[in-house]
Amino acid sequence: MSKKPTKKQDVETTGHSWDGISEYNNPLPRWWLWTFYACIVWGVGYSIAMPAWPIFKDGATPGLLGSSTRANVAAEIDRYAKANEGVEAKLVAADLTAIAADPELADYTRNAGAAVFRTWCAQCHGSGAGGNAGLGYPNLLDSDWLWGGSIEDIYTTVQHGIRNTEDGDARYSQMPAFGRDELLEPEQIAQVVQHVRKISGQEFDAALEAEGAVVFADNCASCHMEDGTGDRMQGAPNLTDAIWLYGGDVATLTETVTNARFGVMPSWSFTPEGGEPRLSEAEIRSVAAYVHGLGGGE
Ligand code: HEC
Ligand code: HEC
Repeated sequence: MSKKPTKKQDVETTGHSWDGISEYNNPLPRWWLWTFYACIVWGVGYSIAMPAWPIFKDGATPGLLGSSTRANVAAEIDRYAKANEGVEAKLVAADLTAIAADPELADYTRNAGAAVFRTWCAQCHGSGAGGNAGLGYPNLLDSDWLWGGSIEDIYTTVQHGIRNTEDGDARYSQMPAFGRDELLEPEQIAQVVQHVRKISGQEFDAALEAEGAVVFADNCASCHMEDGTGDRMQGAPNLTDAIWLYGGDVATLTETVTNARFGVMPSWSFTPEGGEPRLSEAEIRSVAAYVHGLGGGE
């Protein structure tokens, strides 16, 4: 509680005076002053002991105690890696098909796989793995698979990727650009597009479609099969369902047949010379088991 001076004359002045105005002498409270001095002393000590002063180029003065948040994180990561060593060794040694049945591995891959997915896969396949319709990033939740939905198929896809140039074992196939390379006339493309509309259960132009069925049998069936249900050996999508990588409207189908598509996925076992693989074997197995467990796995 501060005592308010009742009368002006009660207050001491500093003796400074200017134009008849004098300055009160109200010193700072002692406790405040000592706290202030203590802060200064502590601040100097801290900036000597800990990383503190920015240096132009390389971060900051390191401090005498050698404390580093970066090193703390590295140690923490190390601790987790050590703790997981056992289960990861077991995962790498396990039969792929046995993972889901082993409670310890199932539990581990559900968590570790989800973490790998959020970090490395979500930017293309979506955080919920629902894919990105129209851009060619497939939904991984459904049972419509380009290259196969068994745990072995998914594992191979993730391990080597698709149509990338960095992995000789990448899954590969290429649909011809029927329009650009003049394999089909624009008219024939318009016809075959109507046939695809028909087999995918959409509205279609019957006159064009009749011709389109012939074009399809001659040019498309070798990959997409006679009935259009696709071929997993070639990653040729099923054209009879309502699930599209790029789209089932006339304009998108025309674009697909004219210029073709070439969906690329990186190889996750890819190892730069002298470097670490992009994802470890345990991580690849974890994320493959995770994707397999999302609902569409076979
Ligand atoms: C740069 C984008 C990109 C990233 C990142 C990516 N993918 Fe893919 N993924 C694709 C594309 C594109 C396809 C479809 C390729 C095609 O048309 O055959 C695909 C296909 C797949 C398939 C095959 C689906 C099927 O129907 O057979 C699986 C499984 C898959 N991805 C899993 C993953 C996993 C797991 C990760 C993370 C480790 C991942 N992807 C990261 C682009 C990506
Ligand atoms: C050599 C094999 C091959 C032939 C021949 C072929 N395709 Fe394809 N087709 C593919 C592959 C592989 C894909 C997937 C491309 C990708 O994912 O990037 C594809 C994709 C498509 C798609 C995209 C489907 C979607 O979900 O968006 C359509 C539509 C299609 N093909 C129609 C045709 C038609 C029509 C013909 C004949 C005129 C044809 N294809 C001939 C291999 C082939």
